[in-house]
Amino acid sequence: RQPFVVAVDGPAAAGKGTLAKRLADEIGLPYLDTGLLYRAVARRMLDASEDPAHTSGLEQAEGLSPEDLLRGDLRVPEVDRAASLVARQPEVRHALVGVQRRFADERGAVLDGRDIGTVIFPDALVKLYVTASPAARALRRYLQTGGDTTRPGWEEELREIETSIRARDEADSAREAAPLRMAEDAVMIVTDDMDANAVLAEAIRIVRERL
Ligand code: C5P
Repeated sequence: RQPFVVAVDGPAAAGKGTLAKRLADEIGLPYLDTGLLYRAVARRMLDASEDPAHTSGLEQAEGLSPEDLLRGDLRVPEVDRAASLVARQPEVRHALVGVQRRFADERGAVLDGRDIGTVIFPDALVKLYVTASPAARALRRYLQTGGDTTRPGWEEELREIETSIRARDEADSAREAAPLRMAEDAVMIVTDDMDANAVLAEAIRIVRERL
């Protein structure tokens, strides 16, 4: 019997994490943010003074424990960059496949990431590809992280975020191992002009169609 899997993929800051979490609550499935796995491996490497551009993260990936995923310092810019670098390493990706598949074994799951619908669960019952323009994603990330568009210099801050988002998109899409791309049978949701409630409603509609 195939577990009920909802795959939510897309680029950084498109709203897929918010959507996946709320969708999981709504339909009563466990939720896994798979980006945290790559972030936790990157964090362990940085703590061990290992450079993810030049050193294999396999050992850190194999030593990953549940506590590593609960650390509060996984969503900082240096980990954004380092995670994108370890995510290029095929042996690290390979080491994380089993963890992701087993997560859905018992009760099914909603997982968000970059390659859930293409590599981890190619037979997922529902595949969503959540995206938005780089400008919309940058603004969202800026406001989420305490940004304020009434502050002097905010445009400069926003531009920096957009630049790093574009760099991460480029790295995630151009890599050889499991690049970011939409699965052929995924449904795309473009979130530029949608708030979180509208995205959730659209996703629920798509899930219902598949039931
Ligand atoms: O989703 P999040 O921004 O937290 O992911 C951090 C990084 O982990 C991404 O930039 C991407 O390189 C990598 N990642 C991945 N495959 C996934 C999830 C995340 O390569 N399924």
